[in-house]
Amino acid sequence: MQKKPYRILLIEGDGIGHEVIPAAKLVIDATGLNIEYDHAEAGWETFEKTGISVPEETVRKVRQADATLFGAATSPTRKVEGFFGAIRYLRRQLDLYANIRPAKYHPVPGATPGTDLMVVRENTEGLYVEGERRYARGRVAIADRVITYDASYRIAGFALELARRRRGKLALVHKANVLPLSDGLFLEAAYDAAKKYPEVEIEEVIVDACAMRLVRDPAQFDVLVMENLFGDIISDLTAGLVGGLGIAPSGNIGEEAAIFEPVHGSAPDIAGRGLANPTAAILSAAMMFDHLGEYQVAKAMEKAVDLTLEQGPRTADLGGNAKTMEFAEAVAANLNAILD
Ligand code: NAI
Ligand code: MG
Repeated sequence: MQKKPYRILLIEGDGIGHEVIPAAKLVIDATGLNIEYDHAEAGWETFEKTGISVPEETVRKVRQADATLFGAATSPTRKVEGFFGAIRYLRRQLDLYANIRPAKYHPVPGATPGTDLMVVRENTEGLYVEGERRYARGRVAIADRVITYDASYRIAGFALELARRRRGKLALVHKANVLPLSDGLFLEAAYDAAKKYPEVEIEEVIVDACAMRLVRDPAQFDVLVMENLFGDIISDLTAGLVGGLGIAPSGNIGEEAAIFEPVHGSAPDIAGRGLANPTAAILSAAMMFDHLGEYQVAKAMEKAVDLTLEQGPRTADLGGNAKTMEFAEAVAANLNAILD
C-alpha cells in the first residue's frame, strides 16, 4: 500500500500543452493513487510574460517533485535575444542524461504490428553542446560534436539495465566507420559498461543501416542506444512506425529528477480547439508511474488507452471526431473498469 502521496509536478507549457496535460491529469486521477499535484511555468508564454523561459522556481520544483509531466513548449524559429528552449534548458540544468523513447504497437492506422522497442538517446552532448562558429568571412561553419567516455558509459549502463529487464537485446547504434575516434570511443565505453551485463546480447549497428532495418522489420529490435543527434532522428522515425506524434511518449531521466513528455510540440496549427490527441501525454504519464515503481498502474493505463483506441472514440488525427477531453474521459472510464 502506498503511504506517502506522490508529488507530481505538471508543466503545461504552450499551445496544446494546455489541453493534453489536463487530459492526462483526468486519467491519472482515475488511477486511484494518492497524488499531491503542483504546477509550474515554462516556455514561450512564460518568456513573454516574465522575460525568462524557465524561471528558477520551476527548476526547483522539478527537482523537488517525485516526477514531472511536461506538455510542450514553443520555440520561435527566429533568434530572440535572451530566449532559450525550455525543455533543452531543463535537461541540461538537471542533468537529465537519458532520453527514453519507446515505440510500441498500438491499434491505430498505419502502425506496424509487432513493434516493441525502446530508443535510448544520450541527452547531454554530441552536437547539442551548441558549439558553432563561422570562419572565412562566413563561408565556412564548424559545429563541435562532443563524445565523452563518461557520458557514453553512463548512457550505455542505463540502456543495458533496461535491456536486462526487457528482452535482453541491445543495439549499439553508431557511425564509427567514418568517425573512429569519436564514435569509436562511444563503442569502447559501451563495451566496458557491458562487462557487468553478460546476459545482454549486444549488436553493433551503423546508424544508416539501422534506419533501413527499422523501416523493414522493427520487431527485430529491443533496446537501441545512441548519441544525441542519432537519437533525435531515429526516435522520430520509430514514432512514425507506430502511428506518429499524437501517440509517442518519452522520458528524460537523471539522478535527481525525471521529466516525462509527449514527443510532439505545441502544435500552434490546432491549439485551443480541442483537437489535440492526448494519447502521447497519457502514455507519458504511464511511463512516469512505471518509473516510480507503480508497474500495475502503468500497465493498466496503457491497456485503457489501447481499449479506447480500438473501440473509439478517436481524435481527428486518427480519423475520428472526438475532442481531447472526450477521448480522455473514455480512457478514464476504461481505466476504472480495468482497475475495478
Ligand atoms: P508539432 O509536434 O507541434 O506539430 C507537428 C504536426 O503534428 C502539426 O501539424 C500538429 O498539428 C500535429 N500534432 C502534434 N501533436 C499532435 C497531437 N497531440 N494531436 C494531433 N496532432 C498533433 O511540431 P512543430 O509544428 O514542428 O512545432 C511547433 C512548436 O512546438 C515549435 O515552436 C517547436 O519549437 C515546438 N516543439 C516543442 C517540443 C517540445 O516541447 N518538446 C518538441 C517539438 C517541437
Ligand atoms: Mg526531435
